[in-house]
Amino acid sequence: MAVTKVSDEEIKSQYDYMNKIRSFNQGGKYFIFTLGCKLNEADSETMSGMLETMGFSKAESFDDAKIVIFNTCSIRENAEEKVFGKIGELKNIKDKNDMIICFAGCMSQEEHVIQKIKKSYSLIDIVFGTHNIYKFPELLYKKMVEKQNKVLDVLDIDGTIYEGLPVKRESTSQASVIIMNGCNNFCSYCIVPYVRGRERSRQPEEIIKEIEGLAKEGCKEVLLLGQNVNSYNPRDGYNFANLLSDIDKIDGINIIKFTSPHPKDFKDDVISVISKSKKISRVIHLPLQSGSTNILKAMNRGYTKEQYLELARKIKAKIPDALFTTDIIVGFPGETEEDFEETLDVVRKMNYEQVFMFIYSVRHGTRAEKMPNHIPEDVKSERFGRLKTLCDGMTEIGMNKYVGTVQKVLVEGESKTNKDVLTARTTSNKIVNFEGPKDLIGKEVEVKIVSQHVWFLKGELV
Ligand code: SAH
Ligand code: SF4
Ligand code: F3S
Repeated sequence: MAVTKVSDEEIKSQYDYMNKIRSFNQGGKYFIFTLGCKLNEADSETMSGMLETMGFSKAESFDDAKIVIFNTCSIRENAEEKVFGKIGELKNIKDKNDMIICFAGCMSQEEHVIQKIKKSYSLIDIVFGTHNIYKFPELLYKKMVEKQNKVLDVLDIDGTIYEGLPVKRESTSQASVIIMNGCNNFCSYCIVPYVRGRERSRQPEEIIKEIEGLAKEGCKEVLLLGQNVNSYNPRDGYNFANLLSDIDKIDGINIIKFTSPHPKDFKDDVISVISKSKKISRVIHLPLQSGSTNILKAMNRGYTKEQYLELARKIKAKIPDALFTTDIIVGFPGETEEDFEETLDVVRKMNYEQVFMFIYSVRHGTRAEKMPNHIPEDVKSERFGRLKTLCDGMTEIGMNKYVGTVQKVLVEGESKTNKDVLTARTTSNKIVNFEGPKDLIGKEVEVKIVSQHVWFLKGELV
């Protein structure tokens, strides 16, 4: 499918709307409620950027916000009730603050959600999708100034890419950068291809310009984002390995991370670029989903158990300090006890740093929805429990390995629970808390690890 870049004129017209709103805005506040993955978090930073350009500032909670955005996620079935419940709770504050409630993100690309909003949610004023975030200023103008009743712009998932919108990032030392959007894989359980549309990649020149700008402002770490980063394909003759090696050359950027790659697309050129780089993180996310070749086939994952293990072996051979994290779904339709044992077997063999575990959740419109032999809830939770026990044990052993070592960390900020403590991350993504002066925030320092507390490490400044 042809990828169309949103025209410069269109983006300029959105800046015109932002300026118009700014001219009469009297210091209103906004609050964005973000659910889902890092792509949604990155999209929320673009929404914040547009809102700040329009003269709004960030509110601490819903209570003092004039503009509220729900940036939603569709990956699991039960999230819908929670989101609509939360919106319902805002009725009183909405009347008091003359609040504008916006509904965005992946759920806004689902037909039945739109019907529900049209029919029963008069509280929601503006709805926009994942493909047209750039239109938010125009939609807000229609609501705020032209006083249109309900403003909807959704469902038409085309292959668009936009550039040049303002972004308000949470951190100055680390930045998420979306390199591609959408997915063509259609794993049989997954709703993402339906709500994010087909794969489309940003041009490398735009990405590199953005990262160079970030480096000039003091950013040290970039996280490259996409649903399937290693099928990044902006044009013939340029791929993900090329992008990684071009970003590797940017002065000032010291840590490069990416998520998510797909095992079936993890090619030798990418392994080779990582092995030669001093900046690219050694923690590699390799989503397994299931350890059973039969289930992987039914999932449409494009690899077998053996191919997955062989890929990990190949990566380890070229990058001996590589560490792996993964995603696993328990209880996919038809999963037998033997299939599940295969998953446990791969988990033991891979010795993962971290496992993100999910109980299979049926998504309307996906192929797995129609498959026979859906697994009863009690069996799913029993298997989930067993997987969790295995992974928790591995995490503890993994964390113990750090105690007594000296780690280079990037200081992220004050700890949320104790203002006297700084929180930082190792290059392998572990949280380290330690006492130190606030002017270390945003800098890289060395810390000696003194103890481990399952979810974080405690350190002392060297
Ligand atoms: N594109 C990424 C991840 C997308 S969603 C990838 O392919 O790795 C993040 C994770 O949610 C998936 O890796 C999968 O483990 C989980 N997931 C997706 N659909 C799910 C479903 N229907 N039920 C349970 N977990 C699901
Ligand atoms: Fe979903 Fe599969 Fe695409 Fe990941 S690769 S987003 S799991 S369809
Ligand atoms: Fe959820 Fe959409 Fe991400 S469905 S996981 S927010 S791409």
